[in-house]
Amino acid sequence: MNKLKFAVIGCGRISGNHIKAILDNFEDVELISVCDILKDRAEFKADEYLIKAQEKNIPAIRPNVYSDYREMLQKEDINVYVICTESGYHAEVSLYCLNLKKHVLVEKPMAMSLLDADRMIQTAQKNNVKLAVCYQNRFNPPIQKLRQAIDEGRFGQIFAGTARILWNRNKEYYYKAKWRGTWKLDGGCLINQCTHNIDLLQWMIGSKIDSIYGQTENYLHPYIQTEDYGSIIIKFKNGAIGNIEGTVCVYPKNLEETLTILGEKGTVVIGGVALNKILVWDFEDRQETLEKVQKEYDSEIENVYGNGNTPLYKDFIDSIRNNSAPLIDGKEGKKSLSIILMAYNSQKYSRAISYNKDLNISSEDFEGML
Ligand SMILES: NC(=O)c1ccc[n+]([C@@H]2O[C@H](COP(=O)([O-])OP(=O)(O)OC[C@H]3O[C@@H](n4cnc5c(N)ncnc54)[C@H](O)[C@@H]3O)[C@@H](O)[C@H]2O)c1
Repeated sequence: MNKLKFAVIGCGRISGNHIKAILDNFEDVELISVCDILKDRAEFKADEYLIKAQEKNIPAIRPNVYSDYREMLQKEDINVYVICTESGYHAEVSLYCLNLKKHVLVEKPMAMSLLDADRMIQTAQKNNVKLAVCYQNRFNPPIQKLRQAIDEGRFGQIFAGTARILWNRNKEYYYKAKWRGTWKLDGGCLINQCTHNIDLLQWMIGSKIDSIYGQTENYLHPYIQTEDYGSIIIKFKNGAIGNIEGTVCVYPKNLEETLTILGEKGTVVIGGVALNKILVWDFEDRQETLEKVQKEYDSEIENVYGNGNTPLYKDFIDSIRNNSAPLIDGKEGKKSLSIILMAYNSQKYSRAISYNKDLNISSEDFEGML
């Protein structure tokens, strides 16, 4: 079977994880070109791909380098575009590719507004191409095991879940890239740092949302526009309550990232640096001990982004080959974005917000809110 031809747009910090996932799936895909408006970053990425391929004895050709993604789309015959630009450009670049009938894998968050998210979903549908969003932690072995336990009904009724992301990001972090902490290109800690865990919480509860109450503040980062602390309570339609506490203010360093699921017959807590370790695993059915699941499912990771990109790519490749939906398609990717934008809305109007599928809000609507 022919390899799928990939290209990466945006060659900054996260792009290395995509290069790795492409190489890990080298039997199915190859990287044909890379693009960054800062051309030296794209040149660097092309070299990185070649060097890493050689290290793994994978036959590879140096990807072509571009500084204009439109020119790249015109000149190259690519199947899949991977969008790794700053978040505020995701929708514009994705829509350009989707409109030219190209498959798109976009970094999280897929967009900064629900209107843009909907446009992306509809454009992919209309052009019969796939759209996937990079929530790679869904593929972490402990997370997959938790999801399996839910699917098997081992929790009985799930009545609550909590996502806690208690991290530290300092001035140096925000000054390194000017787009961070801006409403237009990034959003606050809820959209940037907490979005993975929010996605997982709603995926585990697996219900539509009834209402959301949110409070956000900027406590310790006066040099950014957005919140550095957020608290959200979600009432799900199935009756469960979701709690989210996310911050980048923790002194003096990252303290915790956990996902807790509470059911009438089971309690699970997943933690570690990137939700890669099982901390609590307790079920009435006593199918296995904590030690057994830890031994089987805890994983070591190279960096805070975890190892999920490689299986996420495999899932996306399969979805293209089999014309099926990827695990995290546009509709799935939109769910955590909706929760966050509704929480901002709740803060703005000092009341709980009921879920309305036509809710049309954007992170820019909250400019100046704090
Ligand atoms: N999935 C994850 O765990 C994870 C982790 C970190 C970052 N991210 C996401 O990845 C995205 C990028 O983050 P980053 O830290 O790599 O940012 P970065 O600033 O390091 O890189 C972004 C790059 O995109 C380039 N770019 C901007 N506009 C472009 C255009 N029109 N064409 C080509 N290149 C363009 C910039 O020049 C820059 O090099 C963000 O949306 C972020 O939320 C995801």
